[in-house]
Amino acid sequence: MTKRDISDRQAVELLVNTFYEQVQKHDVLGPFFNEVAHVNWSAHLPKMYDFWEFILLGTGSYKGNVSSPHVALHAKKNLQPSDFDAWIFLFNQTVDAHFEGPKAEEIKQRASSIAGVLNYKLNGV
Ligand code: HEM
Repeated sequence: MTKRDISDRQAVELLVNTFYEQVQKHDVLGPFFNEVAHVNWSAHLPKMYDFWEFILLGTGSYKGNVSSPHVALHAKKNLQPSDFDAWIFLFNQTVDAHFEGPKAEEIKQRASSIAGVLNYKLNGV
């Protein structure tokens, strides 16, 4: 079956929901969300829909600060380079399992570059 591209808000929501379902079960990533940040998922997920819709489709209304929750998180439990690698691996795997096309390629590149910036801010490498 041909996979579709991430061309609308509905596709963004499917990707985000699927990704964070995996994150919650992930040995390395899950504890950051569940045990350190005690994330309110019903607030976090819509924020992530808005974030990716804005980045990928140029629409929507994301007005947050990407760095600050990660700086706060890092102060409680180190966010190491290998944690970012695990995040990217899982993100790319989730994208590839459900989507293909130019936007699917773009979102993986954007995620990697944002992860690189966050990692550099926190770890200087
Ligand atoms: C190991 C890697 C990462 C961990 C453990 C992590 C964890 C978190 C946590 C715990 C929050 C706060 C959620 C809340 O309290 O509601 C958050 C927020 C967020 N994260 Fe991450 N994150 C990681 C990497 C990334 C990457 C690579 C991106 C982007 C490509 C990203 C994008 C965001 C955004 C947009 C927010 C919401 C910021 C806002 O409040 O507006 N995160 N993350």
